[in-house]
Amino acid sequence: MNKFLTFFLVAVSFGNISYAESQGELLFDQKCAACHSKTFPKDMNTVVAPAVMGVMRHVKMDYPKKADAVAFIKDYALNPSRDKAICMAQKIKRFGLMPSQKGNVTEEELEVIASWMFDNFPPKDFRGMGMGNRFK
Ligand code: HEC
Repeated sequence: MNKFLTFFLVAVSFGNISYAESQGELLFDQKCAACHSKTFPKDMNTVVAPAVMGVMRHVKMDYPKKADAVAFIKDYALNPSRDKAICMAQKIKRFGLMPSQKGNVTEEELEVIASWMFDNFPPKDFRGMGMGNRFK
């Protein structure tokens, strides 16, 4: 009976994790991917914002703990400002400040998105190319 219960609980929690995982990517695709590419951009001239692996590399330098990183992303997406930005100054100069996503995304959605971003980026083999397979 105990074994069965353990198996059941493990199965349920795995189910939830993969649900959150795919939810995060889905929401990111809907709310953020128009500007933030999930893959390394091939043509720099068409890029309107830093790709997500670049964003997360910098976020993690300043906020190595997941809870802090998620809090930062949530806040930044709704209230972006020059003072808070952790990305390199030349990014803001080049792309302009990120427009607030208020009205486009809720705090609850951001929680899921930010958690997915933290767990998946930058990819372990971050070299810029050939990562397509990881994100099916
Ligand atoms: C209309 C285009 C656009 C959309 C949509 C967008 N972003 Fe951005 N984002 C930018 C630009 C441009 C920058 C770089 C300038 C800056 O940091 O403000 C940026 C930077 C960021 C940064 C780095 C902040 C820093 O420290 O500089 C984070 C984190 C981020 N975006 C998260 C998100 C999330 C999460 C979403 C989806 C909810 C999102 N963005 C949607 C344009 C966008």
